Amino acid sequence: MSAQPAPIDITTTAAWSELQQHAAALKPDLRGWFADDPERAYRLTYEAADLVVDLSKNLVTDETLALLVKAAEAVDLQGRFEAMLRGDHINVTENRAVLHTALRRPADETSPLIVDGQHVDDDVQEVLAKIADFADSVRSGEWQGVTGKPVRTVVNIGIGGSDLGPVMVYEALKPYVQEGLELRFVSNIDPSDVYEKTAGLDPETTLFIVASKTFTTLETLTNARLARTWLWEQLSERGIIDDSDAARTGAVARHFVAVSTALDKVADFGIDPENAFGFWDWVGGRYSVDSAIGTSIAIAIGPDGFDEFLAGFHAIDEHTRTTPFAQNVPVLMGLLNVWYTNFLDAHTHAVLPYAQYLHRFPAYLQQLTMESNGKSVRWDGTPVATQTGEVFWGEPGTNGQHAFYQLIHQGTRLIPADFIAVANPARPLQDGGVDVHGLFLANYFAQTKALAFGKTADEVRAEGTPEEIVPARVFPGNRPSTSILAPELSPAVVGQLIALYEHITFVQGIIWGIDSFDQWGVELGKKLALEIAPAVTGDGLALADQDPSTRSLITKYLELRKG
Ligand code: F6P
Repeated sequence: MSAQPAPIDITTTAAWSELQQHAAALKPDLRGWFADDPERAYRLTYEAADLVVDLSKNLVTDETLALLVKAAEAVDLQGRFEAMLRGDHINVTENRAVLHTALRRPADETSPLIVDGQHVDDDVQEVLAKIADFADSVRSGEWQGVTGKPVRTVVNIGIGGSDLGPVMVYEALKPYVQEGLELRFVSNIDPSDVYEKTAGLDPETTLFIVASKTFTTLETLTNARLARTWLWEQLSERGIIDDSDAARTGAVARHFVAVSTALDKVADFGIDPENAFGFWDWVGGRYSVDSAIGTSIAIAIGPDGFDEFLAGFHAIDEHTRTTPFAQNVPVLMGLLNVWYTNFLDAHTHAVLPYAQYLHRFPAYLQQLTMESNGKSVRWDGTPVATQTGEVFWGEPGTNGQHAFYQLIHQGTRLIPADFIAVANPARPLQDGGVDVHGLFLANYFAQTKALAFGKTADEVRAEGTPEEIVPARVFPGNRPSTSILAPELSPAVVGQLIALYEHITFVQGIIWGIDSFDQWGVELGKKLALEIAPAVTGDGLALADQDPSTRSLITKYLELRKG
């Protein structure tokens, strides 16, 4: 493994100074820009695989984009992307390769990828084949529970990247799920989660997938034990098993499988490693839905659907690798995010899917983007000299229109927003002969139009609005948005959308010089929770050891807690 080059302080580059001067002089005027340049929409609309991406309603000129591309070149973005693809240890603080892109390389790749002595392609294909066989056996009913019944419900137990990806993709691809199969997802250590998700389930037809990269995560292991106890109790109440170790082990063997990089720990839990699907430390948790972590998805949509899903990712990987920056969608979108964060003082970024099936996409992106780029030091430990990761958030349209869009349209803050829609709905319905999807997408088009062009005081007055109300009814416009349009929400398109945002996140991380693949910021809270647990469960000495604020709060909790 070669040492990684030191990160470049982007703020010292000529491109950055030019961007600062350019930003100071720029007067955003989307109305004027479109009026003066009839080609703007055409010129600033790009394609990446099946995605059409319209960047024309962003607060940029051709010069802005050229300067942003210059900044990307100044930090050798292309070189860093290629370093990731070939398996350099670009996750510097964990000294690891970052190879989620290897998970979706086609089976017939001619030049093999060998990293740190590992034949990556062979290993990936071997696990994919094992997942496909298992998925087929569950879907066909060949895989049976202890009483010989087929699986009807798959419960994925995981958290963070071992939950958010699978649940988001399951929701996105509901129309592709095999009839008669249901997936549920348990993530929170709040016991109400496992309680509610097992409620009403038939233990004889339920399969649990314990998904954890490390197989040490407190939430997942606690929930897995709760689920195992639930299974034993339910089967024993029905007189199917007794309390013997052999009976219980037999039940776990038919109702529990695991996904992990730590197959030894899987065995310690009591799951046969034969019934476990592996992956590798070079797959980050938030980049893992296309690894064995997606086993629940492979069961739900079938191995062929899962292959299409992976091919979608790969199409965007190839677009990113081969397309010049000036036409490269993830590069341009990542650079726009840098532009808004560092030059136009945006603090947040909204992601607004006009596709109800994508309702968990913003939550998924929160981990992808914020766990990746929420950093204050560069990969060599030096402090960053700019703001980094913005807060990602969002809800599906049109629901959001009736909740928080007011602030995006007329508030004091600049909130860049990505609008995502598909042309062909999975569930086309008519309302009195009117295509409801068309009505839905009229909102998608209307919102970006209103944000970009607003409504002037004169236009408000022309509607006969009393003068004293005119200011309240003015829309300033020049609110930036990106419109993403796909033909349909297929497995391939969902893969493309995920890969798009993975690479946007990468681009931002490289510009800022940060390691987008570690997550040390989640460690302190985890450690403190373990230290605090005895105090919460009645250990007076442990309570006395706490700082005054925490001690006071726990004392209040203990007073309130009944029983
Ligand atoms: O929250 C930290 C984190 O390590 C995430 O990065 C990861 O996705 C999640 O916990 C779950 O980890 P694991 O898959 O090892 O249980």
